[in-house]
Amino acid sequence: MQQTILEIKNLSKNYGETVALANFSLDLARGEVLGLLGPNGAGKTTLISILSGTLRGFTGSVRFLGQDLFADRRLKNRIGVVPQEMAFYEDLSAMENLLFWGGLYDIAGKELRRRAQELLERVELSARAREPVKKFSGGMKRRLNIAIGLIHRPELLLLDEPTVGIDVQAKVSILDIIRGLGGQGTSVVFTTHQLAEVEQSCSRIAIMDQGAVLAAGTLAELIRIVGEKEIVEVSGPFSADAFSEGIRRLGGDGMEILSVGDNLAMLAFADSQRIPAMLQHLFQNRLAVADLKIKSPNLEAVFLKMTGRSLRD
Ligand SMILES: Nc1ncnc2c1ncn2[C@@H]1O[C@H](COP(=O)(O)OP(=O)(O)OP(=O)(O)O)[C@@H](O)[C@H]1O
Ligand SMILES: [Mg+2]
Repeated sequence: MQQTILEIKNLSKNYGETVALANFSLDLARGEVLGLLGPNGAGKTTLISILSGTLRGFTGSVRFLGQDLFADRRLKNRIGVVPQEMAFYEDLSAMENLLFWGGLYDIAGKELRRRAQELLERVELSARAREPVKKFSGGMKRRLNIAIGLIHRPELLLLDEPTVGIDVQAKVSILDIIRGLGGQGTSVVFTTHQLAEVEQSCSRIAIMDQGAVLAAGTLAELIRIVGEKEIVEVSGPFSADAFSEGIRRLGGDGMEILSVGDNLAMLAFADSQRIPAMLQHLFQNRLAVADLKIKSPNLEAVFLKMTGRSLRD
């Protein structure tokens, strides 16, 4: 059994009337890469801010390495944070930024320089290490942000949407870095809206919405929540209301509506033989179907089932 390094219990946080976290609970093992998947406003940044010590006024407990995370400041030095907003000095070079941020920890000069060089190589910025960061592309800045989060060799790295707003290549390279960290025994929590990212890069996935974890497990475990079903994605020029109304009249067992939006609906069938009858029913109700895809249960279906809404909403 792997050692649990992080235990979050019943974390709750309100901003005035707004509930940002509502009894959020989650465990993390050493070397585990956990993808925290949630739509806008789910509470992801609030969670990362509390864990990184920048947000107060919450209830619940967080134990890190067996101790109360908030009782001893030194514990926080064993966590690295890569915030949603970039955190570095634009006029300094990548190397200077690493030396500056590393200087905030007790790392001897020579060792700090060695680590900075090593990290610049790991995030593939060695060749540009001496240029002011303001000349970097978005993807390069993100990679520098990760290097800064790692300069003090944290046992846990928290990343808030590390792949937002960058091209596919930069995304792949960041996901590679994240996977590599897990392989070296660093635990990682990263937040995202992207289903594909967590499918590809995580040893465990947690789905959160409205401040709480709705489901957590390996991809295979999560997919079991939907069960042995056929997932049918129907698209066409219909409104959400018309589709809901039409499909409700069909009724019947063995069919579950996972989500309905304008022009797109997702249904789950226990018995695929019922799919033609559904299609016929839709046509009889003048609901134009432009495309129909039958899929195996996937993370998207689990997400829709748990949250009742699409990440694209
Ligand atoms: N400083 C703040 N003041 C008031 N409300 C806030 C503040 N920060 C966040 N909230 C609210 O708390 C809830 C959770 O926000 P949070 O930023 O944690 O979500 P998120 O999952 O990170 O969303 P996103 O995917 O858009 O980054 C939202 O309803 C948000 O409007
Ligand atoms: Mg956020």
